[in-house]
Amino acid sequence: MADENWQENPFYQVNSYLEWVKGEGVPIVEAYAVDCLTQAVEPSPRLGGLGAYIHLVGRGDFATCYLAEIPRGESLEPEKHLYDELVFVLAGRGATTVEGPDGRRHSFEWGPNSLFAIPLNAWHQHHNGSGTEAARFAAVSNLPIVLNLFHNVSFVFENGHAFADRVGEERYFQGQGEFRAVKPGRHQWETNFVPDLTSFELPEWKERGAGGSSRNVQFTLADSTMHAHISEFGVGTYKKAHRHDAGAHIFCVTGHGYSLLWLDGEDPVGTKRVDWKPGTLYAPPDGPTFHQHFNTANVSSRYLALIFGGARHFISSAGKKLYETMDKSVKEGGNQIEYEDEDPRILELYERECAKHGVRSRMAELIDRAPVTVS
Ligand SMILES: [Fe+2]
Repeated sequence: MADENWQENPFYQVNSYLEWVKGEGVPIVEAYAVDCLTQAVEPSPRLGGLGAYIHLVGRGDFATCYLAEIPRGESLEPEKHLYDELVFVLAGRGATTVEGPDGRRHSFEWGPNSLFAIPLNAWHQHHNGSGTEAARFAAVSNLPIVLNLFHNVSFVFENGHAFADRVGEERYFQGQGEFRAVKPGRHQWETNFVPDLTSFELPEWKERGAGGSSRNVQFTLADSTMHAHISEFGVGTYKKAHRHDAGAHIFCVTGHGYSLLWLDGEDPVGTKRVDWKPGTLYAPPDGPTFHQHFNTANVSSRYLALIFGGARHFISSAGKKLYETMDKSVKEGGNQIEYEDEDPRILELYERECAKHGVRSRMAELIDRAPVTVS
């Protein structure tokens, strides 16, 4: 015997996060990519200010993004929660106060392109320090998996456990930290606050791109299970295509360009393209989807990736395997397409796009291929 309305059955295939988020009273935006700077937001009854949840096609099962705006001179409501949250500031200036379990308060001032973490279950409050300008940030968190695991809202938002080990040192809230060398593409900077992602000095990661301009560092923030990294690639260059699990929320920080996304067997240049500039957010969907980033700006491009599960705290062995092989050729069992193996139309498209922006492509010389004549 079947229930004709089984898809509406409240006892079958429950997603506690999606049920909860519907009650938040702010827009839930479902999109492949969004412009966080112009995305419409509406008043949040619970948090104050304005907000929207951003559900990217490629967000995966474990992470979500809350886009918040604090009107000039205002503060959001204080809160604490049993999920890890990383905050990327898009516009405006303000301050955040974090209260540790010992009652000690840590305050720091942020501006555009700051990145910081909310230590697990610590009381915190965000303030807009400007009397003239709104402030906007994106908070990427692992709320979906936490709410789905416990499916109890008060356990997650009114939990009394003190995570003293997650608060970090006071100097971590002031932008200081520890560099922990691992290997290129996996080096870590441990802190709670990065004042400006645009000026943070990055070590080289030559396996991922040509011309000595591919750079990267990972941020371990508040010893979180949320992972963050920033990557840079230079003028006139593009990175190699690679693939990994869904859930990597990618924000353009500097420069502009585009990314191509495709599944194995699909057309790399004709399947999906995302044009990006500061404020753009997107996530390569599961599959996993190959994705390749192209810089068409006359400055280096930097992008920030915020992801559930990372280099310090791994969650799945399958994700770990993909992660460890994301800069190894598919021909060697890895998940990266080397330049010599890519579709030649990728370079052709790139040279045309560079010409449109008055930028000289360095790629033909860097990968030792004949340049494309652009008319
Ligand atoms: Fe990637």
